[in-house]
Amino acid sequence: MQIHKHEVVIIGAGGAGLMAALYASRGGADVAVVSKLYPTRSHTGAALGGIGAALGNLEEDKPIWHAFDTVKGGDYLADQDAALILAENAVDAIVELEHMGLPFDRTPDGRISQRRFGGHTSNFGEKPVRRACHAADRTGHMILQTLYQQCIKNNVNFFDEYHVVDVLMNGDACVGAVAIQLSTGEYHVFHAKAVLFATGGWGRVWQITSNAHSLTGDGAAVVFRRGIPMEDMEFYQFHPTGLYGLGVLLTEGIRGEGGILLNRNGERFMEKYAPKIKDLASRDVVSRSIYLEVRDGRGINGRNYVHLDIRPQTVNRYLAEAGETRRIDDDYIRKNLAETLDVCRTYIGVDPLTEPIPIQPTAHYSMGGIPTNIDAEVIRDAAGTVVRGLYAAGEVACVSVHGANRLGTNSLVDLVVFGRRGGMKMAEFVKTAEFLPLPNNPTEQIQAEFERLRKSNGKTRVHELRTRMQKVMMDHVSVFRTEEGMNTAIAELKELRHLYMTDICIDDRGTKYNTDLMEAWELGCLLDMAESTALSAVNRKESRGAHSREDYKARDDVNWLVHTLIHRNTDDPYDANPTYTIDTNRKVNMSLADVDERFVPKERVY
Ligand code: FUM
Repeated sequence: MQIHKHEVVIIGAGGAGLMAALYASRGGADVAVVSKLYPTRSHTGAALGGIGAALGNLEEDKPIWHAFDTVKGGDYLADQDAALILAENAVDAIVELEHMGLPFDRTPDGRISQRRFGGHTSNFGEKPVRRACHAADRTGHMILQTLYQQCIKNNVNFFDEYHVVDVLMNGDACVGAVAIQLSTGEYHVFHAKAVLFATGGWGRVWQITSNAHSLTGDGAAVVFRRGIPMEDMEFYQFHPTGLYGLGVLLTEGIRGEGGILLNRNGERFMEKYAPKIKDLASRDVVSRSIYLEVRDGRGINGRNYVHLDIRPQTVNRYLAEAGETRRIDDDYIRKNLAETLDVCRTYIGVDPLTEPIPIQPTAHYSMGGIPTNIDAEVIRDAAGTVVRGLYAAGEVACVSVHGANRLGTNSLVDLVVFGRRGGMKMAEFVKTAEFLPLPNNPTEQIQAEFERLRKSNGKTRVHELRTRMQKVMMDHVSVFRTEEGMNTAIAELKELRHLYMTDICIDDRGTKYNTDLMEAWELGCLLDMAESTALSAVNRKESRGAHSREDYKARDDVNWLVHTLIHRNTDDPYDANPTYTIDTNRKVNMSLADVDERFVPKERVY
């Protein structure tokens, strides 16, 4: 076992982790970033179409409109103080990224180009606005490259391919983390004054997902197992346009550029569900509309997909009908949606310049996660009690800025804005904080769990359990939900956990790059995420944002304008049969509604 000592340890090297690392190091802290992936392979790279900021480069825009869209898009569950910070800080964050060298696309007069995205409007919902700043459809990828270079320049220490498997606590304070070096199988203890989790989401809980294989919720799970609750887990977003059968993300930027959704009759069905902004309604609305079209027999060829059409002749026809003067051609698409063309041609042999693209909703993003305040400090209860030394930012965290449904582009804004705030807060904290002692035998418990998995000799394969979990979550805890379906999922998850603890088997007993073992461990994390999602969902007896119940169809602002906190009732991180308590005492922050009637919850009309 090796011990490393750094004032700030950041787990995860996506946009939030890198931004936090950059700002903590700029503030004078000694910073290490520990990541199970090489940093530029992090999932931020999968965010394609843009990062939202009210720059107003192409038409009038204001941060307060962005804040309004974020609150409304989140179905009024977003904390309004956080939404305002997000929208206001987005503007200088973009300028800062540009100055760091991020190659944004340009307008003819040299300003950062912006495109439309779902739910982003001007003047409090009046009409779609061009707010998403983009680098073709590779925006997240460019953010990663830019921030990584800046961190290297700023002497941040990187531990690449070190998989964090435990967080270390001293009483109520966080003092470090344990990682396994993947190339050797050795345990490494990171002793820190401040630890920030930025490990992303857990889309691999579902069968069809846009998330990479690495998105298994391990960061959230290790924190959850050490007594921190998870917040708003019931709100999991399905992105409307995943490649049919595979779930690979097709950016909302396609619809931002004028692409439209069509059913088997060639109808632009979003006109019916969102008459005002149609295909650019928020993601929960569009995903539900696709499900309803399919359910009513209007999927293409009677199957569970519809078409996304970006062919210039189709787009130009609809632009003309809408009275717009803008037109697109093949070259425009080649330049602005290069990744889209590549993905469609490579994975399904469809050329979007000549054919419509088959798409279906795909599990994409968790609005819930580790509860934090607006400075990325982790909180442990409804009163907002801060956990000393523990921070979280990006998708793994729940600020809550996205409420019940995140708007496209706001994930990238979230990670730069709250990653930066977390980095600054940690830099300030470590100036006066001491290194608290590590627990005795800091790797004992986690090593025992890994030895259990390594020596497991049962009959059940990891992939069998994972497939069963993904299917039951897809069938019962996805776009539409019912009590009966969710209870079926909860019962199945309990059975899967039992098998995981008693009957698992793996083949590779080695130490070096043992992906068999790491996948087995990741499955345990996925089961934690799945169970906390299903339990939080069955508890919330209303429909709001991405949580759409067929047995409670209405939103209920009287009883449910609150966040969910789910706690494990056990100190044993590897309890075979954990029970849970759900607390709904954390009220939504309504600071904008208190002064501006437009932020008061009302029916969402798009
Ligand atoms: O549609 C997209 O380009 C995805 C971006 C996001 O999730 O914000």
